[in-house]
Amino acid sequence: MGESMKGLKRTCRCAEVTTADIGKTVTLMGWVQKARNKGGIIFVDLRDRSGIMQLIFENGSIDEEGFEKAARLRSEFVIAVTGVVEKRSGAVNPNLKTGEMEVRANALRILSESETPPFPVEENSKTREEVRLKYRYLDLRRPDLQRNLMMRSRIATLTRQFMAGEGFLEIETPTLVKSTPEGARDYLVPSRVHPGNFYALPQSPQLFKQLLMCSGYDRYIQLARCYRDEDLRADRQPEFTQIDMELSFVDEDDVMDVNERLLAYLFKEVLDVEVPLPIQRMTWQEAMDRFGSDKPDLRFGMELVDVSETVKDCEFAVFQGALEAGGSVRGINVKGQGAMPRKKIDKLVAFAKDYGAKGLAYVAIQEDGTVKSSFAKFMKEEEMTALTAAMKGEPGDLLLFAADENDVVWAVLGALRVELARQLELLDPADYRFVWITDFPLLEWSKEEGRYKAMHHPFTMPKEEDLPYIDTDPGRVRAKAYDIVLNGTEIGGGSVRIHQNDIQEKMFEVLGFTKEQAQEQFGFLLTAFKYGVPPHAGLAYGLDRLVMLMAKQESIRDVIAFPKVKDASCLMTEAPGTVDEKQLEELGLAIRPAKTEAAQTEA
Ligand code: AMO
Ligand code: AMP
Repeated sequence: MGESMKGLKRTCRCAEVTTADIGKTVTLMGWVQKARNKGGIIFVDLRDRSGIMQLIFENGSIDEEGFEKAARLRSEFVIAVTGVVEKRSGAVNPNLKTGEMEVRANALRILSESETPPFPVEENSKTREEVRLKYRYLDLRRPDLQRNLMMRSRIATLTRQFMAGEGFLEIETPTLVKSTPEGARDYLVPSRVHPGNFYALPQSPQLFKQLLMCSGYDRYIQLARCYRDEDLRADRQPEFTQIDMELSFVDEDDVMDVNERLLAYLFKEVLDVEVPLPIQRMTWQEAMDRFGSDKPDLRFGMELVDVSETVKDCEFAVFQGALEAGGSVRGINVKGQGAMPRKKIDKLVAFAKDYGAKGLAYVAIQEDGTVKSSFAKFMKEEEMTALTAAMKGEPGDLLLFAADENDVVWAVLGALRVELARQLELLDPADYRFVWITDFPLLEWSKEEGRYKAMHHPFTMPKEEDLPYIDTDPGRVRAKAYDIVLNGTEIGGGSVRIHQNDIQEKMFEVLGFTKEQAQEQFGFLLTAFKYGVPPHAGLAYGLDRLVMLMAKQESIRDVIAFPKVKDASCLMTEAPGTVDEKQLEELGLAIRPAKTEAAQTEA
């Protein structure tokens, strides 16, 4: 049984004690990191969220009962200690903030005991993530996760302060909303009062924030929970948090300006990193052509080169086929990797195939200037020379080529470029390269659905000069949309919104909505726009992604207190779970038996 805290008050946290406190009495409370019993003297590392303080229990400084209690201490016991701050008697520990001090205990209470934890609570845990997530409350005691969550809190607080200073109002929007089929898959919540009807959890507060602009709130911000039922990756969670904002009477530049200053402020305050302003801008087209990605990582080169023109007359069927089908041949130059073993190149080919490539052609330029290539036999010598020259190939370089539809070529080389940079250790997490990507296509063609879909969302304003093509050549219309990208991750995105009903109706038409469908799903917005709507624009960051990059973490799960795993379940609470028959009945729901695999194939 644990002792009570009666009559005791914590004076400060462990690592808040400084050398100026030497000679003073303090009361500290926290968890035992480790206890070492050296006979007449016991050393204990006491841990709380601020760090560690070494305690020393010695017969004479503490009474016998206290000393006996200290001898019982084990890892993760929760204790309260009163003692005097002293200069450390043993060697100074330069790894600890409090490494020059120790606290000579004169009173000890064991507030609660601990069983042996399933894994040690320590920095850089080697324990499997599944085990850590099952006991997340223990995992969250680890200093690395504590630092991440403290940084997250700081970023949220600073964001609120900064935005308040810029005249933004924090307004909450509902999380039981109407399902709209555009965008990712919704999480649905059945209604008890309206059997057979469902709410959706919001994918973002998009429509509500636009309506707040209609209502005159002018500048809105919210740290909003968002829910999307999509495949999870290292930078995606089914529920996540946006720093969501909307502004009235502004254009793109105003939104970008306030956000650049916000980012510079956060990076300065949190990391002491200067973000040079203005942040570089790049059109979507340029990003795709140079980096094969709309979220280019600018920390390294290895840019894509379009060699379609150079190879258009060669006899390599792979190149010819792609060009005849309207595609392109592009390559990257992996500097100094000309001696890459065949096995490793084969792995790159397999990697490229995962991104939709049919293959990956290569030229390895040897130190003597001769080439080894998967397609040399189809190339005349001067054609090969022209190709390596177009790639600025030098002895010792490895040239990789993809030939296909543009989308595939971009996806393959864009991914390969980043994978190679990772393998070659070109990615310094402390090097922060921001870029705005602008002029996105308004629409993208969905092969599965055989129709255009909004690239950002259906409320994004087309560029005025492209409006004439909206009927004749919709794929050519560019949007007033912008993403903010940091080191190859899209940390935020937004757009100028359509505030004219005729353009909004046109947009729904292009997306294949009938008038009735548009009215059914977005009628409230269209109606609202009839009563005076200011021009408005906005943006939302993925807070989790921003924190992940600022905390130099590789997974979004490491900056979320209670994250979900790949199959969207929580290993600790075991959500999602089944519910009582009675609950289902109240909701008017019945569970269909799971389809057998055979039945699924038939269907
Ligand atoms: P968008 O869909 O681009 O825009 O989302 C904004 C930002 O949210 C982050 N994000 C995610 N983070 C973690 N897990 C996810 N599953 C996930 N999905 C998105 C990304 C992304 O840049 N309403 C618009 C914004 C606007 O137009 O103002 C929107 O939601 O960092
Ligand atoms: P093949 O003639 O299919 O044996 O291919 C010859 C070389 O071209 C091999 O190195 C393949 O990996 C490569 N290759 C095949 N298809 C493509 C493609 N679409 N783009 C680039 N290289 C390819």
